[in-house]
Amino acid sequence: MTSLDVTMTVNGRTVTGRVEARRTLADFLRKDCAATGVHLGCEHGVCGACTVVLDGCTARSCCTLAVQADGAEVMTVEGLADGTDLHPLQEAFWARHGLQCGFCTPGILLTMRELLADNPDPSEEEIRESLSGNICRCTGYQFIVEAVKDAAAVLRASSADRG
Ligand code: FES
Ligand code: FES
Repeated sequence: MTSLDVTMTVNGRTVTGRVEARRTLADFLRKDCAATGVHLGCEHGVCGACTVVLDGCTARSCCTLAVQADGAEVMTVEGLADGTDLHPLQEAFWARHGLQCGFCTPGILLTMRELLADNPDPSEEEIRESLSGNICRCTGYQFIVEAVKDAAAVLRASSADRG
């Protein structure tokens, strides 16, 4: 079996490892980097539970090989908070009950972060469209949508404060 060295930045920390060529980025993050917020549901690109940020864009880590992320910057949900300060999306999901079992939540948070970076004031339709690649079996999505709207308002206000 071919093994290769990989180096990447995971949540601001440089990590190196030797991986089989077929090892997925999801397995590398979960097992070699202790980033167990990367969840594995379908393992074929449908459910979005394994979503991470790879060089600034969301990606399905179950469909990405670890070797493809060599040299990349990766962010998982563990990198979303600022120390003990939760990200506004995390705060809003908490306040609005935007999760139940929480299995889908890491992927949804990172997907919504990307949405709000591109579109700071999304309509409900735009939020639902952006959520369409992340399957939640518990919530019915309504509280997630409300949480995203709340977080968007907080982020807009803090960006207005910064001028
Ligand atoms: S586990 Fe990757 S998309 Fe479902
Ligand atoms: S909260 Fe359970 S799958 Fe979404």
